[in-house]
Amino acid sequence: MSKEAGYCVAVVGATGLVGREIVRILEERSFPVGSLRLFASERSAGEQLDYCGRKYIVEALGDEAPAGIDIALFSAGSSLSRKMAPRFAAAGAVVIDNSSAWRMEKGVPLVVPEVNPQAVFEVADGGGIIANPNCSTIQLVVALKPLVDAFGVERVVVSTYQSVSGAGQAAMEELSQQVVALFSSQEPVAEAMAHPIAFNCIPGIGQALDNGYTEEEWKLVQESRKILELPTLSVSPTAVRVPVFSCHAESVNVTCSRTVSAVQARAALSGGEGIVVQDRLAEDLYPMGRELTGSDEVYVGRIRQDPDREDTINFWIVADNLRKGAALNAVQIAEVFDEGPEE
Ligand SMILES: NC(=O)c1ccc[n+]([C@@H]2O[C@H](COP(=O)([O-])OP(=O)(O)OC[C@H]3O[C@@H](n4cnc5c(N)ncnc54)[C@H](OP(=O)(O)O)[C@@H]3O)[C@@H](O)[C@H]2O)c1
Repeated sequence: MSKEAGYCVAVVGATGLVGREIVRILEERSFPVGSLRLFASERSAGEQLDYCGRKYIVEALGDEAPAGIDIALFSAGSSLSRKMAPRFAAAGAVVIDNSSAWRMEKGVPLVVPEVNPQAVFEVADGGGIIANPNCSTIQLVVALKPLVDAFGVERVVVSTYQSVSGAGQAAMEELSQQVVALFSSQEPVAEAMAHPIAFNCIPGIGQALDNGYTEEEWKLVQESRKILELPTLSVSPTAVRVPVFSCHAESVNVTCSRTVSAVQARAALSGGEGIVVQDRLAEDLYPMGRELTGSDEVYVGRIRQDPDREDTINFWIVADNLRKGAALNAVQIAEVFDEGPEE
């Protein structure tokens, strides 16, 4: 799908945290945009957003898909995606969807360009849906990929430390308001999340499932298996919301198919696509979200062998959930499409 004059790109959910980041990243990476349309709900219709030095007016998305869109980047929630992504695809657009609506659907590729870029081409030029994985899954599979290739991976135990920006604009505002309330001796109000998040950690993200896990945790299991094409991979997840504004962190314990030293694991991770290793514990150097907000890579540190198992390593990963965990990954998918399949 290469277009000399640039693509007609639509951003649906353009006023949200992810949508605004998509618009910024399209500009930063000089994606070949021929024309740009920005959509949100009635609430923000008429608002103006900047792109490449020009103001663009946000349009309210109706029930019809607009004609002439080549690439539609959706970040407006699952129910909107369920309804409108097929309509955009039927009108000829390649939809890259950030919501969870289509990720596990058979025939819909679930893509992280560092891991399974060729899956993009399961969708035809004439329109279709590509799913962007969950933010926690993206950074996990980027880190797992070089280990899968070098040593084989049997089992992953992962605990997430997820920022409030992962829950959208309202959750970010709620954390700020709750901090102010608590310092003013007032009761914090929790609406976007089930409990106050200020000075708290919440071990429940998404709906509770019958198996005792949460929806967010189960996404880590199912999406990792699909992207890595390892349908029997054992994944044991715990997902926790923590009171930081941006970047998700994960503590990961990986059992490989053979003995792996920390040195070998560090070498494999250092060579992994999209990975930066920051791992000098004695100098207090390890990845932290405070410093990595706005970054594009998946940062890995604290790489060490499990104290009791020679085939198992532990490490800590951090990535910007709004960029690599959402907007950047979506734009990278569009770039893969633009570059075309490998010969
Ligand atoms: N935040 C993350 O780290 C992250 C990571 C991966 C995936 N995602 C997914 O990306 C999506 C958006 O997340 P977000 O954090 O950007 O949320 P957000 O900040 O709450 O933004 C939501 C966006 O969707 C628009 N919208 C809502 N209902 C709509 C409708 N009926 N018609 C058209 N537009 C509508 C909103 O427009 P208005 O301004 O008009 O309300 C806004 O632009 C969600 O599906 C989320 O699960 C988020």
